[in-house]
Amino acid sequence: MPPFAGFIDCHSHLAPTGDDGARSVEEGVGLAQEARRAGTAVLFLTPHVWPELPMHDARERRFRAAVAAMAEAPDLPELRIGFELTPDAALLDDDPRRYALAGTGLCLVETPFSGRLRTFYALAEHVEAAGLLPLIAHPERSLSLTGAPAEVARLLERGWPVQVTGASLTGRNGPDSERLALRLLRSAAQCVVASDGHRAYRPAVLDAAWQRVVAELGVEAAERAFGGAEIPGLSAAAS
Ligand SMILES: [Fe+2]
Repeated sequence: MPPFAGFIDCHSHLAPTGDDGARSVEEGVGLAQEARRAGTAVLFLTPHVWPELPMHDARERRFRAAVAAMAEAPDLPELRIGFELTPDAALLDDDPRRYALAGTGLCLVETPFSGRLRTFYALAEHVEAAGLLPLIAHPERSLSLTGAPAEVARLLERGWPVQVTGASLTGRNGPDSERLALRLLRSAAQCVVASDGHRAYRPAVLDAAWQRVVAELGVEAAERAFGGAEIPGLSAAAS
């Protein structure tokens, strides 16, 4: 394994796009600089693609312009473009390749916070059918999975890479999420930790989660989980 060069954070909302992430380039820059100070080397900006806020062309142009403006600032992690897909039937008619994390064959698919998982599975399979690998965002935060070991086993059987959110590992999302986050780190075939940072109240920092994983699993496992080494395409994209 190459020397650890910092966290690869594959999930954040620090680019202003009209969702619940950063509201301006300046706010996004401040949050990204904070992430850099906390040890993040590469930061993917992944605005929500919501049923009520799709990624239409004008929004995507604004997003890319905002990222270009942010990249002018000093002391940032390397910025990469991506998206986070919320399961919705309309996305089944869309080409997932437009939503890939830049430079990877991955597509970030959100686990629903509650309710049935049928559309989630349909979207992840749609991503696979397009030749991409779905990267499953924060399953530990889903009420459909916490306390439902059979559902977790069903998900893990698919072998898809899993993204666990740092704040879950430090207990901020409650004990059930904390427990499942640690279980996923131990048992998922491929697992990466990301911030899912939004604004000052949910910053894109990973240092506290890093400390927790080092304490639980040791530094080598932490380097794999925070450097994306287990996820095909992720660490290569960042090098
Ligand atoms: Fe997110």
